Amino acid sequence: MKKLCVLLALIMALSVVSASAELLKIGYVQVGHESDWRMANTQNYFDVFTEDAGFELELIDCDNDHALQLAKVREFVNKEFDYIVIDPIQTAGWDDVLKEVQDAGIPCIIADRSVDASDELYTTAVGTDMTAEGVTAGKCLEEYLAGKPAKILVIEGSTGSSAAIGRAEGFNQVAAEHPEWEILASQDGDFTQNGGQAVMEDFIKRFPEFDVVVCHNDNEAYGAMDAMDAAGIKYGVDGVIIISFDATNEGLTRTLAGKILFNVECNPIQAVTVMNVIKALQAGEEVEKFTLVVDEGFCAPGIESQYATTMTEEVLAGRKY
Ligand code: AHR
Repeated sequence: MKKLCVLLALIMALSVVSASAELLKIGYVQVGHESDWRMANTQNYFDVFTEDAGFELELIDCDNDHALQLAKVREFVNKEFDYIVIDPIQTAGWDDVLKEVQDAGIPCIIADRSVDASDELYTTAVGTDMTAEGVTAGKCLEEYLAGKPAKILVIEGSTGSSAAIGRAEGFNQVAAEHPEWEILASQDGDFTQNGGQAVMEDFIKRFPEFDVVVCHNDNEAYGAMDAMDAAGIKYGVDGVIIISFDATNEGLTRTLAGKILFNVECNPIQAVTVMNVIKALQAGEEVEKFTLVVDEGFCAPGIESQYATTMTEEVLAGRKY
């Protein structure tokens, strides 16, 4: 009887070891926790990369610190993780560490934002097209203004991030076709509500007149609204035009309320796409160098746009994050 118990205990211990040995170790260096979008993106990874699905996920919140992000990637290399997923805080400064990951033979996936290193240094990338998002914002404004002049202020995302660079490039491409648009100033609000508020307060002091505020994400837009509320400035359908990016549930709630006129989605639900890429690599399949996560534009009720879906309660109900 004693021998049988020992044998059973041994079998159970072995099965625990083999079950955890089968889990794929995924190291994810997340940008931080700067926005609602980011929190939804983090949650999405925890929801998808579960032990039941065969993964052991270690997700590090890098708090917008590029040096920390590099150090954590190196830590994952030393710990011999099976896959490393990088959401790069900034586009620059990746060559050396990507080479180290490659030399260690660990597949590397760049997710959400992009790097300006050669794509030969990583396995594959998954994300949205930030420049296209900027173009969509510009086109929505072009259609809405229909030739009217506009003084424009821009609250940018974190300097050096592909999200800020792409959205600025895309919007500026459209703006370049409109001599009647004047971009008065463009300043970093770091993708946060506090950042958006501080930049808007500064803009209000410096510019007595403006027609449009472009915010590189929803949280910055909330901050800009707080600043305009405090200064008694009207915004929305009958005031300053606010354009935002992300289209989170709160952002779309404010779009439905007519406070944000255009909200260009950046879809944070990317973990399943990353997981499918990993499954394909595990199966020895070739994967595309880039998998696009598609997003769309939304506009306030009363606006009809070929570039954006007009907000309704029904559209909002479908937005879970
Ligand atoms: O990289 C995606 C961007 O980063 C989102 O637009 C923003 O909200 C986030 O912080």
